[in-house]
Amino acid sequence: MFDTMTITKAGGALCVALLVLLLGRWAAEELYNVDHHSEDHVSGYRVAVPEDGAAEVVEEVAVPFEEVYAAADAGAGERLWRQCSACHALDAGRNGVGPYLAGIVDRPVATADGFSYSDALATLGGEWTPENLSEFIANPRGYAPGTAMSYGGMGDIEDRANLIAYLATQ
Ligand code: HEC
Repeated sequence: MFDTMTITKAGGALCVALLVLLLGRWAAEELYNVDHHSEDHVSGYRVAVPEDGAAEVVEEVAVPFEEVYAAADAGAGERLWRQCSACHALDAGRNGVGPYLAGIVDRPVATADGFSYSDALATLGGEWTPENLSEFIANPRGYAPGTAMSYGGMGDIEDRANLIAYLATQ
């Protein structure tokens, strides 16, 4: 005999079973969707491009000179030296418009014998490491405001690395 109580219980059990089934499917779909979405984000352009772009900018600003310098070509730098030789000699002690540049790589700033430097260079301090030379040659007046070196600057980082590699052989 079915009384109301048995029917209610059976119905309730059925409902619970259905609910569990539905919840299980829903959960499975959600999991699937979540995975699917995160894959989209990893490979999708909208997320990946700005991240890559930012990484490239950081590389261009922070890593470069050392790496370019490591691959520099002193032979190519020798040809660029003409831009400097109007004012600079390489022989120690021979000052021209500018101080002699013998051993300039890693030489302390403003220490050529007998050359009278501007205050800008005399008070700069430090040494002409390849990095410092590169920044100075790229933009002398930007690097040492007030410098007496009237040279416009060498824009190409590879040219600067090659030239400094050549200077390092002198
Ligand atoms: C128009 C002349 C002129 C040209 C061209 C020129 N320089 Fe100079 N350079 C000078 C003068 C003048 C100084 C001294 C600057 C001062 O006292 O402010 C100087 C200073 C320097 C110094 C600092 C030396 C030290 O003892 O601290 C370096 C390094 C240097 N020049 C490298 C170069 C290189 C490399 C080039 C070629 C890319 C170049 N210069 C082209 C005139 C020139």
